[in-house]
Amino acid sequence: MSPHPASVIQHVKDIANMSDMEKKHVPIIDIEGTPRAGEPFEVTVWVGKEMAHPSEAEHHIEFIDLYLDNSFIARCDLTWGFTYPKACFSIMLDNPGTLKAYERCNIHGDWAYSVEVSV
Ligand SMILES: [Fe+2]
Repeated sequence: MSPHPASVIQHVKDIANMSDMEKKHVPIIDIEGTPRAGEPFEVTVWVGKEMAHPSEAEHHIEFIDLYLDNSFIARCDLTWGFTYPKACFSIMLDNPGTLKAYERCNIHGDWAYSVEVSV
């Protein structure tokens, strides 16, 4: 998969002072433990961690993607009504980089967040 087009991606302006719209849409990345090169570790991406996002036919999160820099790692497709927009990926890295999470809301578009990860 190619990277999401930068022109349509929305980013949080201040993670410590998010608007309600940002709280519902920014895909927060949690990394479990201290990653080590070549060993699996868990990355959880949570949309609506601070303010729940709806999971209804009219308004829902369609997918959550995870990238390292510009390399696609994984996608979690979501079905409204059955899923909560939170995805756990077990990944393994050989080099440090920037983990980027993307999500798509069917009404409010694409949102992204990123964190540096060292291994
Ligand atoms: Fe939304």
